[in-house]
Amino acid sequence: MNKRPALVATVAALMLVGASSAGLPQTAPQPEGLPATAPYLMTLGDMMNTFIQPRHAKLGLAGQAQNWALAAYAVAEIRQSFAGIIKAQPKFGGMPVGELFDAALGQPLNALDAAIKDQDPQHFAKAYDQLSQGCNACHMELNHPFVVIKTPEASAFPNQDFKPGQ
Ligand code: HEC
Repeated sequence: MNKRPALVATVAALMLVGASSAGLPQTAPQPEGLPATAPYLMTLGDMMNTFIQPRHAKLGLAGQAQNWALAAYAVAEIRQSFAGIIKAQPKFGGMPVGELFDAALGQPLNALDAAIKDQDPQHFAKAYDQLSQGCNACHMELNHPFVVIKTPEASAFPNQDFKPGQ
């Protein structure tokens, strides 16, 4: 059965509700007796754990599988995540996150772009190792030397196929 018309109607109804409450606070009213809620603000650690670590792993897995289209996508996603992270958290412990990112990851990410363009597995492996070393250099600089990044040995994503030609 095609559920689309019902979904469209629901979305339209929600938009009407939204329009009629324009200018009112957007949070749901709290049931009595419960403390007021606050939006959860991600820490830098949350963002590393959620956006950067899986994408770094996926990039490695895509490169090992010589899936160049997926690898190019993963590099772009890492760049995009960092651009957002730098906006969300420009300083960590008083240090400029954007400048540290450029210094630590700028060159390795460019080397990865080149390796992917050339479809060169050796060059990719070297550039990927440089990327991980860049991650670790920033962790050292920002007092997290115990967060050690390395090339993944296995996939942590059972529901994603890293082989090319899908
Ligand atoms: C600009 C500096 C910087 C760069 C570059 C950087 N990190 Fe981080 N990373 C940090 C800091 C600082 C923390 C600790 C943040 C905190 O605890 O709030 C961290 C924490 C982490 C953590 C631990 C999160 C957790 O909850 O376990 C992981 C994993 C991580 N980074 C992965 C990476 C990877 C992968 C890269 C490279 C692609 C990278 N980071 C590049 C600064 C950086």
